[in-house]
Amino acid sequence: MARIRLPLQNLSRAFLEVVEQSAIAAARTMGIGDREFSDQAAVEVMRKIMDSVPMKGTIVIGEGERDKAPMLYIGEKVGKHKDITKGEQIAHEVDIAVDPLEGTNLCATGAPGAITVLASSEKGGLLNAPDCYMEKIIVGPSSKGVIDIDASVKDNLRAIARRLDRDVENLVVVVLDRPRHAQLIQDIRAAGARIRLISDGDLSAGISVALRGTGVHAVMGIGGAPEGVLTAAALRCLNGEILARLVVKDEEQAERMKNMGIRDPSKVYATTELASGKNIIFAATGVTDGTLLKGVRFFGDGTRTQSLLMNLANRHVRFVDTVHLAQRPDISVRL
Ligand code: FBP
Repeated sequence: MARIRLPLQNLSRAFLEVVEQSAIAAARTMGIGDREFSDQAAVEVMRKIMDSVPMKGTIVIGEGERDKAPMLYIGEKVGKHKDITKGEQIAHEVDIAVDPLEGTNLCATGAPGAITVLASSEKGGLLNAPDCYMEKIIVGPSSKGVIDIDASVKDNLRAIARRLDRDVENLVVVVLDRPRHAQLIQDIRAAGARIRLISDGDLSAGISVALRGTGVHAVMGIGGAPEGVLTAAALRCLNGEILARLVVKDEEQAERMKNMGIRDPSKVYATTELASGKNIIFAATGVTDGTLLKGVRFFGDGTRTQSLLMNLANRHVRFVDTVHLAQRPDISVRL
């Protein structure tokens, strides 16, 4: 019997369902004030739906180490590969990076910008980054190639402004509002650029930078390394750029990096090193309203979600508005 590989399109559509359903689950907990509960709701649904996806998946970025996370832990095998390999179709072997709820605090407090995220690639196409901090500078397509993580804030902003054909005063830089960024904020202000401080969510900010019309031109500062890899996966599809360096907190973390095969913790990673895959798929759904995506809306006849679905191989960037109808005979859909 001929063995046919399932088309990648099937995977994209299946991943869309994964992020949509986990966003709906998380959105139901919006404003409850319990970030762990919100995260758990998203994780459980994401894990469950993922097992209906025709793939041989391995989690490379997830909820943490096997002993710390019961689901979506690093190394966990996911997907419906067992049944499929018996038939004539064979499933893709893919590496999966997830952030089941990016912005757990945002969801718990009903603040803007929480999203659910999944990225996949052929094996080895996403950096297996440790769960530590990462220093990042992120720009859109027009500023690609002009940034340098070791240059001064002023020089980077000048270079970005030149590429965008505007004054530094007309740039907006997104920075996570953290005490560790006091000097960075001071330097951005001294250079003359405007700042948008965010309480959480440098991943969705990083994607927004690569989309024209969002009004943000760079993301700078230290955030999570897993979020950095997911940002890189999205930027590969959007032609943006991230330069990043792991931040080693202590000896224990340095040891862990060594065990993960990271020989030079001070290495500067380019976008294609964080997400080197040729077959990257990226899917995200809004949980609460944000710059990038609308949040989940519940109404009498169903639920509406907005998602971003991108496929590097076939150069698709889709904004998907889905109405999930209630199981009732009298439903009506609004435009
Ligand atoms: P969670 O969704 O895990 O809560 O992470 C949100 C986030 O703000 C990320 O966007 C960011 O990369 C990271 O946390 C920053 O970490 P910290 O809150 O420790 O500064």
